[in-house]
Amino acid sequence: MSNWLSTDSGGRVLPPLSLPLAFHPSRTYIYLPVHRHLSPELPSAFVAPEGIMRVLVLGGTGAIGQLLVQEALAAKHVVVIYTRSPQKLPESITSHRDVVVVKGELQDEEALAKAMEGVHAVLSALGPSAWHPRGTPLAKGYKTVLKVMHAHGVKRLIALGTPSIRDPLDRFSPMYSSMVAVIATLANTAYRDIVAVGDVIRADEELVWTIPRVPILTNSDNREVLTGYAGEFKMGPTVARVAFAAFVVQELEKNAWARKAPIICSA
Ligand SMILES: NC(=O)c1ccc[n+]([C@@H]2O[C@H](COP(=O)([O-])OP(=O)(O)OC[C@H]3O[C@@H](n4cnc5c(N)ncnc54)[C@H](OP(=O)(O)O)[C@@H]3O)[C@@H](O)[C@H]2O)c1
Repeated sequence: MSNWLSTDSGGRVLPPLSLPLAFHPSRTYIYLPVHRHLSPELPSAFVAPEGIMRVLVLGGTGAIGQLLVQEALAAKHVVVIYTRSPQKLPESITSHRDVVVVKGELQDEEALAKAMEGVHAVLSALGPSAWHPRGTPLAKGYKTVLKVMHAHGVKRLIALGTPSIRDPLDRFSPMYSSMVAVIATLANTAYRDIVAVGDVIRADEELVWTIPRVPILTNSDNREVLTGYAGEFKMGPTVARVAFAAFVVQELEKNAWARKAPIICSA
């Protein structure tokens, strides 16, 4: 496919034309520096980039977040880490030539806007901390993130979730239901926030989101995952952190789970 795409006045991508072509005055023509394709099941405004991307990583200081950064770098992407605590990042990450670190709080629109410049997709390993505060700070943060994404025309978000975020395709599962019940009881502020995060992301009709939902996290090096929904026999109780990171980077390139929230567990 040609690198030339045309858009209507609303910015929607029109069917591709091959070169040489007669330029139509009612269309705006944009040249895409990397080869891109339109995926038929995605909304027309979403141009899924292929090849090297500039990705914004949230939660990059965490155990999963650092693996996610490493995985994205290994796939040759350029990584912007937006974090409130850059001092937690190891030198091996901060000194990498394809890493940019921008300091800021999740609700700081100005700092986020700076980080969002030129970004193709946002990858998030954000999740509640052990003593999570009340008031759903992550869900509020995501509202700001989505606002800034839209202002910059960024459509793609792949964000960590958990089985506490219910999905219409989930069926009753004693295992996942008890996990969720334990979290809701013992870590209620974290539970409320993660559920609210799911609501905020799903409510955004412009966004092409994927929420890989993780059960119990392990530090195993098993990168293979099974994807599915609660109540499916094959689904297990754990997933390796590195497997989440690998899944996200693969999903960034394949867009196989757009607008879906599968549970991922170790194979
Ligand atoms: N342990 C389990 O079995 C299990 C199961 C399911 C889900 N989870 C959740 O999965 C998530 C990722 O796991 P992990 O091991 O990578 O956790 P982690 O090391 O605690 O990382 C959490 C990340 O979220 C960020 N964060 C949390 N609250 C924030 C806020 N208000 N504003 C900005 N950043 C914030 C942290 O940033 P800072 O470094 O700035 O604090 C950190 O980068 C965790 O939230 C965890 O609760 C855990």
